[in-house]
Amino acid sequence: MKSFNAYILISLFSFLICVPALRAFEFRHHDNDELIAVLEDVHSRCPNITQVYTLSEKSVLGVPLYVIEFSSHPGHHQLLVPEFKYIANMHGNEVLGRELLLKLADYFCEHYLADDPAIKKLIEQTRIHLMPSMNPDGWQLSTDTGGQDYLLGRYNNHSVDLNRNFPDLDRIMFGNEQAHIEHNNHLLQQVDHLTEPIQPETKAVMRLIMQVPFVLSANLHGGDLVANYPYDASRSGALTEYTKSPDDQTFRHLAQTYASLHHGGMADKSRSGCGSDGFNFGKQGGITNGAAWYSVQGGMQDFNYLSSNDFEITLELGCEKYPAADTLSQEWENNRDALIGFIWQAHIGIKGLVKDALTGKPIANAVIHAKNITNGRDDDIKHDVTSVHAGDYWRLLTPGEYEITAFSPGYSAQTRRVKVDDLGEGKEAMRVDFWLQPLLPPPRPMEDDDVFDLDQDSNPSPGNSEYETYNDLLKDRLRSKWIYNIYKRAAAK
Ligand SMILES: *[C@@H]1O[C@H](CO)[C@@H](O)[C@H](O)[C@H]1NC(C)=O
Ligand SMILES: *[C@@H]1O[C@H](CO)[C@@H](O)[C@H](O)[C@H]1NC(C)=O
Ligand SMILES: *[C@@H]1O[C@H](CO)[C@@H](O)[C@H](O)[C@H]1NC(C)=O
Repeated sequence: MKSFNAYILISLFSFLICVPALRAFEFRHHDNDELIAVLEDVHSRCPNITQVYTLSEKSVLGVPLYVIEFSSHPGHHQLLVPEFKYIANMHGNEVLGRELLLKLADYFCEHYLADDPAIKKLIEQTRIHLMPSMNPDGWQLSTDTGGQDYLLGRYNNHSVDLNRNFPDLDRIMFGNEQAHIEHNNHLLQQVDHLTEPIQPETKAVMRLIMQVPFVLSANLHGGDLVANYPYDASRSGALTEYTKSPDDQTFRHLAQTYASLHHGGMADKSRSGCGSDGFNFGKQGGITNGAAWYSVQGGMQDFNYLSSNDFEITLELGCEKYPAADTLSQEWENNRDALIGFIWQAHIGIKGLVKDALTGKPIANAVIHAKNITNGRDDDIKHDVTSVHAGDYWRLLTPGEYEITAFSPGYSAQTRRVKVDDLGEGKEAMRVDFWLQPLLPPPRPMEDDDVFDLDQDSNPSPGNSEYETYNDLLKDRLRSKWIYNIYKRAAAK
């Protein structure tokens, strides 16, 4: 009897010491059930700094679309804290990003628990959303068929390429340029027709983009080795043509940051190209303008830039779309510093608050315009950002001198000159606040719903029941009117 008890104790003990081993992250291709298991495991180890949430829609085959968030206050937008996202596996057969994001989640948690000062600082100063798979159905099809086909599994289960399924805002932007219409941001209100119904996976991400005030993001793909930046669609309609966005310099800097921190040769000028299309992006330092490679309409990258305050680039993480499991650990080493260093880029440029100079009330939806005056230049950057919930805004900028102007209806505009320095990793954006003088007659008296409560719990965000703030701001300006019409139309088809 006694020895029997001892046997049970020993078994129990060995079971207990086995548990951490079971939990250790394994480099392999995680299926759709294992994906959420990894995220839940990270959340259970790091409950104070994580939240796992699902998007509003599931995939066509009913798989939930999961996101894990890292923040010092999970579930909440915090005043002046920039929001960042990585989305991977939008093309179901491009799978490296999916595994890298699962590992990144594990790494953040592990290093936070180990008191790694750099990771703690990053998470305290940035709200980071990681979405390992936007196309779990395509991943399944690709995996079930051996993972080696160039196209099989790329599309969602309705055979739609999700990276062509976003409303084509480039066309609207280029039309505005030609017609000298100044409207250069948050362009969804101008959408009057769609070329195809919006897929549930696309719709889910569109909602996310409308709901969270992202500042910076990347879309993780595979099939080449290059950091690709806007615009993805050519102005003239040509198949290949360098198509500058107003933020070309900033986007080149962002893409270069990823490429130069990549230890697998992305920026290596002497490497060979991936394939038969004749491009060797190493020669260009590992970066390319999207349309200069090939023109894409309805892509997610440009949609982010033109529908919200977010700056997005597209990362092609390797020649192999579905790399063998035994290469994943090396790929993590190749990409780790780049993945982390790129998140720090959410802190370049300036950020601040826009407030009513008389009442101190925050002004949401103020327009922030930048003019580049470096070395006597006088160049308006024709892409404005807007302030969000509590009057907070972020404006990514490369080093230089700028005139920054804040506008809001009912106020006189205010302009400030700023010098933006080259910040190293670990630094926050320079703070530039605006106090706008109300124009006469004075604004109507404050009403209850005008009061911006900075209490954490009143800041809705995905994962808690309210979840609509940024969207509501846009609605106020009629900017998101069209998204609801689009949904209705898409649902009718
Ligand atoms: C989480 O927060 C609680 C309360 O502040 C604290 O006692 C605990 O140590 C924290 N846990 C981790 C893993 O940081
Ligand atoms: C959709 O999913 C079903 C069930 O897994 C599969 O048999 C079919 O090939 C898929 N179709 C496409 C177009 O992906
Ligand atoms: C502003 O001009 C300077 C000097 O030409 C340049 O280095 C910088 O990148 C420009 N900034 C932006 C945001 O384009």
